[in-house]
This record gives sequence, structure tokens and C-alpha cells, in this order.
Amino acid sequence: MVPLKRRKVVPTHSTTENDNNNQPTKFPGIVIFLVERKMGASRRAFLSRLGRNKGFQIAEKYSEAITHVVAENNSGDEVKAWLGSQAGCSSAEEVYLLDISWYTESMAAGTPVDILDRHKLEVSHAHQSPTLPAAATKRYACQRRTPLKHHNIFLTEPLDLLAASADFAEHEGRSVAFLRAAAILKTLPKAVRRMEDLQGLPCLGEHSLRVIKEILEYGSSQEVEATRHSEQFQAMQALTGIFGVGVRTADRWFREGLRSPSDVAKSEQRLNDTQQAGLMHHEDLSQRVSRVEADAIGQIVERAVQEILPGAQITLTGGFRRGKETGHDVDFLITHPEEGKEEGLMPKVVQWLEAQGLLLFQKITMNSYLECKDGPARPSSSMDRFERCFSIFKLHNKTHSQSPSQAPRGTVCPPPHAQAPCDATGGEKEPQPQCSSSGWKAVRVDLVVSPYSQFGFALLGWTGSKLFERELRRWAGREKKMSLSSHALYDLNQRCYLRATTEEEIFSHLGLEYIPPCERNA
Ligand code: CTP
Ligand code: MN
Ligand code: MN
Repeated sequence: MVPLKRRKVVPTHSTTENDNNNQPTKFPGIVIFLVERKMGASRRAFLSRLGRNKGFQIAEKYSEAITHVVAENNSGDEVKAWLGSQAGCSSAEEVYLLDISWYTESMAAGTPVDILDRHKLEVSHAHQSPTLPAAATKRYACQRRTPLKHHNIFLTEPLDLLAASADFAEHEGRSVAFLRAAAILKTLPKAVRRMEDLQGLPCLGEHSLRVIKEILEYGSSQEVEATRHSEQFQAMQALTGIFGVGVRTADRWFREGLRSPSDVAKSEQRLNDTQQAGLMHHEDLSQRVSRVEADAIGQIVERAVQEILPGAQITLTGGFRRGKETGHDVDFLITHPEEGKEEGLMPKVVQWLEAQGLLLFQKITMNSYLECKDGPARPSSSMDRFERCFSIFKLHNKTHSQSPSQAPRGTVCPPPHAQAPCDATGGEKEPQPQCSSSGWKAVRVDLVVSPYSQFGFALLGWTGSKLFERELRRWAGREKKMSLSSHALYDLNQRCYLRATTEEEIFSHLGLEYIPPCERNA
């Protein structure tokens, strides 16, 4: 393994101290790297000095800031192979691979000359699937566009299942590796048919490749099917499916012989408030929430919030913002344009909702976020510290009955088997929501309040997907030496917070192309 290089953030409008010997940069946006191989160290040093004197940015070390790679007496394939060995840096698909003639002509002209075909180093594409888009070769999910519906669910569902299984065993690294492998397949424009289709793709580890190969050859993977049907996996899935029950608790219960929510209900287990509510409403909560139901909840939240704090803004986040048609809950972000007005809002909103009989359960945590001038106190974690509320709403029938053909308000919903079959097209499996015969349905709702100055970060952090968020933080930390949370972005090199009011600005601070919510379904 080549160790990760220390990366410098290369300013585009100023000089780069070490790399450019304090010469002003005349051509921002162009960062040249001269390949020493076959050129030799002294000629490389001479050409670098020449370029810098003419106002070009010539980088000493290879990094992901490089835009133009220049080589002498090397073939395109040789340069590409060398780039491939530079872990964590731009790949050959992301930079210009140029012959020295482009460089010398640019030196003579005193400006970067147009890149002509004769300047380009030719790379053979024999090893790469011709249909592979360059974007699919990016190593972080936050660099790629991942639509909701894709062509490889027959591979991603088994990999996601193995990720869940690793998660149940608390093997976080293994779980993330399977999730990353699944995520790359979700970006492909076509279904994978042969192993050769995968050539050039990052994120596919040996284990994932083995599973994929087996599915392509035999239609299924023994390991996946054994896991799927194992008593432990099924029990862990059923038990962690209870609101308020995490992997640790589920695992303890499994070892004590419990297999299902009804086993837990019959047992003498001591349950906390959240688990009690989760168990009591388990049947409703295990059904999907439809977009229509999410919008109905949105109207209720809007009414409650406006009643308490007129002018507050409510945004639907989570999976629904990414375009999902159903979800396991509904997520809202609340803010107010006047900073400070939002403080203490949550308890009042919850009180109002309770007075209306609209809540079955609520648990509020208060804001504990404070900005330190020395940067975030600990590495950014997935948990944020906003004022927030995990709740269960009581959604009445008239709002969650949806199609005009359904029974009029107040009447009982049809039994589950009378519902329409679920959508069979690709993408995540989203069974249709169902309603109980009680006239109302319990629905999980997450409410988060953010100060206006942190809204962009909160919106980005609460839109997901979880893997996309994780990859954003990994990218920030490893590639940019920045710390990203749902509150702020801190630059560890410059030792300062980077302000932003929109998601677009945050992507730009991170040096990433903007990815809209509907393409963050990694
Ligand atoms: N989130 C978070 N802190 C938590 C829980 C969730 O920051 N304690 C964020 C997650 O990172 C995610 C978003 O909230 O980006 C939504 O989480 P969740 O509702 O669990 O997932 P969805 O993507 O909305 O999926 P679903 O449709 O199943 O609800
Ligand atoms: Mn959600
Ligand atoms: Mn949620």
C-alpha cells in the first residue's frame, strides 16, 4: 500500500508556498504535475522552475488538486498505471494526461495552449468496460450521482443484506465495505452482466466481488441465502425493527431466547419509555409511510409551529427529500430567519401537539452545540446536538387514506391484503403503506430545530442517505483536512470555520460537484 500523502489545499487565486516558490499564479484552475519517471530529477526541477517563473502552478507532489499531468517518453498506459498507484489522488479519468510538447509549447507561448489531440497521451481502454462513465470510477459516494431507481438491485439487495448482518455482529468496517460496494453498483447506467463489466470500478473488495460473481453465475449467493434464512439474522432484524431497540439490546435478547417483538411483549424484559412505545405501536410502525401521509404530517407540523412561532420555516428532509415514495419515518427541519428566535421552540410545539391529541410518544433532547474557537471538540460524529424530538404521531384516517377510490373519511380502511401490490420496478423495495382498522395510524416523526446560521449544514446532514453523509465526512476529513458536521464545517489547516448558508456552498467549500438530493441515494 502506498501511504496516503499529506494533501495541501491548493488555493486557486494565490500562490502556493512550497509548490510555487512564492511566484504569483497567473493561471488559477490549472495545477500541473510533471512526472519524473524517464524525465529525470534535474530536468524536472529545471522545467518546474521555468513554469513557475512564467506564472504556472507546478506541484511538487501528486495530489487530487492536480489538473494536468505532463510526461516525457512515457506512454499513456504507463502514466495511468503510475497514477493508479497514488492512493487517494485523482485518477487518470479526472486529469489531462499530456505529452511534454504541450508543456514546452505553453512555456514558449507564456500561456497554456489549447490541448490538441497530438498533445494527449493515448490510453488503451482494453481493460475498461466501454459503458463505464467516468463518474462511476470516483471513490467516494459523495462524488457520484446515485439515483433512487437503478439497474442492479439483484446485486445491491444481497450486498445490503450482508452489510446489515455485519452490522448486527458489530463489524462496522465490514458493514461499510458492503454498503460501499452496493453504492457503486447503484450508480451504473446498466445492469451488470459479466465480471468484466466491473473492471475499473473502485470500492469492490474481494468479498463483495466473490458474492457478485456467484450471483452472476448461479443466480444467488450461498452465503447471502444462508444469512437471509438464519434464525439469528431474522431475529436481529425483527428485534432491531422495534423503535428504540439497537443492535446491543437485540443481541442480548436473542441470546436470552427472544426472537420477535411478540416474544419481547410476553417476556419480563425491562423496557425504557421509547421501547415500550415502540412495542405498543409496532404493527403500525413496521408499515411504510407514504408520501401522502408525510405531507399530511407536514401540514400538522406547519400548523403547530406557526401557532407558536410565526415566520418559522419547515422543511421535509430525510428519504422523502431524496425522492423516496415511502419511508420508515418522516423527518422535518425547522428554523427561523431571525437567529435566536428558534431557541426553546421544540417543547412548546410538542406541548401544542399533545394538547391536540396528536402525539402518541415524544422524547425531546435539547441543543447542546457550542462552537469553540479552536474548532470542533471531537471528531465529527453522526450524532448532532440540535434541539430535537423523536416522536410518534397519531395520524387520523382522513389524512392517511389516499386514493379517491378509497372509503370516505371516518370509515375503516380495507384489510392489508386488499391493498395494491408494490411497485415492481428497480430501486429500493418500497411496500405500500397500509392503515389499521382503528381509524388512525401511528407514524414515526423526527423533528429537528436548527439556528438559521447552521441551516445549510443541518439540511445537508439530515437529507441523507446515511452512507452519503458518512462519505461526505470521510471526504472532508481525509481529502480536505476539514471536519464536517450537521452544525458546521471547520478547516483544520486554516484553523477556521467555513461559513455557508446553502448546500451548494458547502459542496463548493469541500471541492465537490453539487449533487442534488434525489441523487444522494447511496
Ligand atoms: N440522522 C442523524 N442523526 C440521527 C438519525 C438520523 O443525523 N440520530 C440523519 C441521517 O444521517 C440521515 C437522516 O437523518 O441523513 C435521515 O435518517 P433516517 O430517517 O433514519 O433515514 P431516511 O434516509 O430518511 O430513510 P427512511 O425513509 O427509511 O426514513
Ligand atoms: Mn427518514
Ligand atoms: Mn429519521
